[in-house]
Amino acid sequence: MAVDLLLGLQWGDEGKGKIVDVLTSNYNIIARFQGGPNAGHTLEFDGIKHVLRTIPSGIFHKESTNVIGNGVVIDPVVFAKELEGLNQFDIDYKTKLIISRKAHVILPTHRLLDAASEASKGKAKIGSTLKGIGPTYMDKTGRNGIRVGDLELSDWKDKYRALADKHEAMIKFYNVDVQYNLDEMETEFFEAVKVLKSLKFIDSEEYLYQAQKSGKSILAEGAQGSLLDIDFGTYPFVTSSNTTAAGACTGLGVAPNQIGEVYGIFKAYTTRVGSGPFPTELFDEVGEKMAKIGNEFGAVTGRGRRCGWLDLIALKYACQVNGVTKLMMMKGDVLSGFKSLKVCTAYNYKGETITHLPYNIEPENLKPIYTEFKGWKEDLTKMTETSQFPKELNDYIAFLEKELEIPIHVVSVGPDRKQTIFR
Ligand code: IMP
Repeated sequence: MAVDLLLGLQWGDEGKGKIVDVLTSNYNIIARFQGGPNAGHTLEFDGIKHVLRTIPSGIFHKESTNVIGNGVVIDPVVFAKELEGLNQFDIDYKTKLIISRKAHVILPTHRLLDAASEASKGKAKIGSTLKGIGPTYMDKTGRNGIRVGDLELSDWKDKYRALADKHEAMIKFYNVDVQYNLDEMETEFFEAVKVLKSLKFIDSEEYLYQAQKSGKSILAEGAQGSLLDIDFGTYPFVTSSNTTAAGACTGLGVAPNQIGEVYGIFKAYTTRVGSGPFPTELFDEVGEKMAKIGNEFGAVTGRGRRCGWLDLIALKYACQVNGVTKLMMMKGDVLSGFKSLKVCTAYNYKGETITHLPYNIEPENLKPIYTEFKGWKEDLTKMTETSQFPKELNDYIAFLEKELEIPIHVVSVGPDRKQTIFR
């Protein structure tokens, strides 16, 4: 059976957690393939709200096995807390959750290095979640990292010490004020490693290959969004992994010809946390209204998200790079009550009209050109089928489908599992 993918098409926070949760009952295995605890996948069901960081969103479904793939970076400290948070749900995570030996480990000093690196950048800072993601991937590509499988070896602490010492020297080099007590951090870290080691470590590429051969259905769950991809995102204001479809191949060991559906998730508008270009960003009361109604605050950092109109050019680019086969539009309900809606359908780039995402999208070079739509007043949150949709929403959806040439398969009208309408 083919492996289906589920990816965010904007700058993250599109609502992947909710959709994986909704789709999970159709799959035997849910696998995370990149990123780490910088992600925060929010799930809501039965009046409970829960945020997952590293653990795949299928954990709440009785039948699914959840794999943390080789492309993920794991912070044992965050991971142990995440497991603790699951205790209230009566989940047998020791059998339901398995971890690739090839996933890399985030060390306490990776977090400190992240902080030192950001502090040294001043105004040019990326707005990192400061979870140590960048430094851990740097050690991975620098061939210095510690992998989950290393934790099973007797001498892994020697390797740890050498790396942590090197990190401390690097922190000094940054010459910025980062306060820390490494002894305390290490005590917490080594305790958390014990918790991590109580789970099952596997050779996940082999596991997934065999699972596929035996007819098991697999959904690969992306984190962050396509515009935060290390190669195709708004570099350098990006994360440190490939968040796009190809990342699922390298992050799980799944061959490209084994990919089936590519579900692309986008919000009916756009948000971004952290720094970096955002052509359709709103700085007025309209943006504030979106943030308020959409409750646009980061699940990991609590930071307010920047809000703006839907950028169709950026969305087309993401669909193209990922090979999206089905679209899912989230938070349609948030746009209720806006008199008119805008969609960016071209850019004015240095005085010229263009319809592609150029190399340099700094605000001084690029201004959005909008197509305007009539808004709708109806509250969508109680709607259960498309026949209840107002005409204006149908017009909005029809326009996007025509422009993107991909069907919108799902419209989400609220945070709960039940507020999901299939078309
Ligand atoms: P880092 O990956 O934590 O270093 O953050 C790099 C950039 O990606 C920053 O702008 C973050 O705000 C952004 N980012 C990282 N993870 C997420 C996410 O899960 N949702 C949205 N933005 C994220």
